[in-house]
Amino acid sequence: MKALVTGGAGFIGSNICRQLVGDGWSVTVLDNLMSGYRHNLDGLPGVRFVEGDIRDPLAVADAIEGCGTVFHLAASVGNKRSVDDPVGDAEINLLGTIRVLEAARKAGVGKVVISSSAAIFGELKTLPIAEDHPIDPDSPYGVSKLAAERVGLAYAKLHGMAVVCLRYFNVYGPHQRFDAYGNVIPIFVFRILAGEPITIFGDGEQTRDFVNVRDVVQANLKAATAKGVSGAFNTGSGSRISINALVATLRSVMPERIEVIHTDPRPFDVRDSLADIGAASRAFGYQPAVGMTDGLNEYTEWARKEHEATSAAGPG
Ligand SMILES: NC(=O)c1ccc[n+]([C@@H]2O[C@H](COP(=O)([O-])OP(=O)(O)OC[C@H]3O[C@@H](n4cnc5c(N)ncnc54)[C@H](O)[C@@H]3O)[C@@H](O)[C@H]2O)c1
Repeated sequence: MKALVTGGAGFIGSNICRQLVGDGWSVTVLDNLMSGYRHNLDGLPGVRFVEGDIRDPLAVADAIEGCGTVFHLAASVGNKRSVDDPVGDAEINLLGTIRVLEAARKAGVGKVVISSSAAIFGELKTLPIAEDHPIDPDSPYGVSKLAAERVGLAYAKLHGMAVVCLRYFNVYGPHQRFDAYGNVIPIFVFRILAGEPITIFGDGEQTRDFVNVRDVVQANLKAATAKGVSGAFNTGSGSRISINALVATLRSVMPERIEVIHTDPRPFDVRDSLADIGAASRAFGYQPAVGMTDGLNEYTEWARKEHEATSAAGPG
């Protein structure tokens, strides 16, 4: 079993690599380190690392050689980044995905698992969000992720390869860092570790479907190995918690004092989010297994080590 993981030096990709190596797969990573880290793959010496860009057909052809499965995660990630650089977003997320699909077709790859996003839905109209929820993305990122899905599914129809698109909700877990485009959990945890207050926009009763990265890894592996399955599937936890409840759980797993500042709600934030995960469960047996308390315990332990290492190294 030989797999290519594009974006394998990133948060989710490196977690997939760790599981694949543990399961005995032979793994090649293609990553240009735009937002990933080479050291996310530390401790995985058998992984072949190709530093290159998915937009470069020669790099993709080199990396994909001999692989029967592709996990395609490389992307310009997030709404904010796409608003800052919409052309770069489309070049990587759409054209880069076509480069990967073309290379997969030429190499005779049997299964491509594409990382998609709940951002394709745009403003939410009904809860829980099933796959047939209206699709109306409201950022260039949502549009490029949707286009990547659609071109992947067209390849499945045209070229006889199986393509599964996994629409992740709010993923969290080890190797997720705090940066300008970070999600709420790393922002909160790294602020708390630095002794800084955290900010809640609005009353904190807005809800999110936070899915642990170990469950996202499970979805990828099950989608990759399920015979004859193609399509687009939600990948969430199937449950939601409020931001206030998230902070309460953080208080229960972190000894630090947590100071909360409430400010006005942000105009474009959705109020509630919750994935209907029935389709993935029926199609390939996806069953999330990691609860919030366990997941946050594991994450804060990783984040504490990361915080201590970067504080000890000092700035620059
Ligand atoms: N984290 C989430 O909550 C979330 C939610 C929905 C969807 N996703 C999707 O999951 C995938 C992985 O996201 P992540 O959270 O691990 O982010 P990440 O930024 O940690 O990982 C993305 C990886 O892709 C690499 N990359 C970017 N452009 C590249 C290019 N042109 N060529 C080669 N490599 C390139 C980056 O260096 C990085 O290692 C992405 O496709 C993203 O859209 C993530």
